[in-house]
Amino acid sequence: MITPGRQVTEEACQDCLVGSGNERLRQDFPALRQKVHGKPLVYLDNAATSQKPQVVIDTIARYYLSENSNVHRGVHFLSDLATQAYEGARIRVRQFLNATHDREIIFTRGTTDSINLVAHSFGRSRLRAGDEILISAMEHHSNIVPWQMVCEEKGARLRVIPINDAGELILEEYERLLSDRTKLVSVVYVSNALGTINPVRQIIALAHRRGIPVLLDGAQAAPHLRVDVQELDCDFYAFSGHKLFGPTGTGILYGRADLLETMPPYQGGGDMISAVTFEKTIYNSLPYKFEAGTPHIAGAIGLGAAIDYVQRIGLDRIAAYEHDLLAYGTGLLSAIPGLRIIGTAREKAGVLSFVLEGIHAHDVGTILDHEGVAIRAGHHCAMPVMKRFGVPATARASLAFYNTREDLEALAKGLHKVNEVFA
Ligand code: ALA
Repeated sequence: MITPGRQVTEEACQDCLVGSGNERLRQDFPALRQKVHGKPLVYLDNAATSQKPQVVIDTIARYYLSENSNVHRGVHFLSDLATQAYEGARIRVRQFLNATHDREIIFTRGTTDSINLVAHSFGRSRLRAGDEILISAMEHHSNIVPWQMVCEEKGARLRVIPINDAGELILEEYERLLSDRTKLVSVVYVSNALGTINPVRQIIALAHRRGIPVLLDGAQAAPHLRVDVQELDCDFYAFSGHKLFGPTGTGILYGRADLLETMPPYQGGGDMISAVTFEKTIYNSLPYKFEAGTPHIAGAIGLGAAIDYVQRIGLDRIAAYEHDLLAYGTGLLSAIPGLRIIGTAREKAGVLSFVLEGIHAHDVGTILDHEGVAIRAGHHCAMPVMKRFGVPATARASLAFYNTREDLEALAKGLHKVNEVFA
């Protein structure tokens, strides 16, 4: 049974991740107050999706209760209200990423949709036979398959930057792979399967030296690291709303305006046009050229509320807190007999991927679930990473700022139990 939570963090959040401040933040997330299988929920599957604060839930409810209308179309009061709220969310995203222009922010269905947009628009219009797209060996399928599809169509080639045994990208190999044939570098900022934080500034600088644009898959970075697209100097940045404490079915593609201007639309339909005849269509300006059809209005507004929420806490504060939590969790897990952590990069975000000797990851996940501990088990949509480390699957605990040391202790206790069951 879920009961509504208080609306805290309205004030500046000076103490919200220390001592009782953390407990106060947890109160904002009604789903965290549940019991599962009779045990208090310990939610450690944040890389798959995060829980939603009450303010996001309330914002979406308010939209449907009193603001529901279509955007950019009506002349009536509600349509104006909805349009203002929707465009207000775009401004929040622009500020969140420190992009230069609102028109550089495109609402999508999620990271996968954002990358597909670039693959099908930029990729299909620019790639020729013999060209190359460069990705890394730690990509999520969403940053592999769209490129494979467009490469196959165009006779282009997908090249892969290898990683070392710690799960770090090998920069010398990256430099070696960059060539005049490379038309785009598309790499993950933070790996969902390993937790590795990639040296994206170096990656971008090296590509730009040759005039090659760079897309960053920021799905796992957005909830954990402060991002400034101008300072990073990336050309595209994709992330999902639902991992950032916002609604599912929402995402963002940031693109440099001059690049987006030259790209053809990805999908045709309403709102992406300025004039249509049967002979010819004139497309709308940015960002609408890439937002065909009625968008996920409630979702975009909910994402705006989620961004306000995390910004009140502060991404730097979140990163520092999760860094300590990760170190604590790594220590606890390292002491468990037969446990091997997959992904031991020096720079890591809050992901603990591991295998237990002789026990399948799904069995680990099932036993933990009965202890109330929610983790993910499987290939994490990153099959090539599993192959690289010679495992069929891993168990993965992934952190958010509302997790605590007690959560990690519950995980460790559950893992001891798993070992006992299989002893
Ligand atoms: N990409 C998400 C994950 O890593 C679904 O779990």
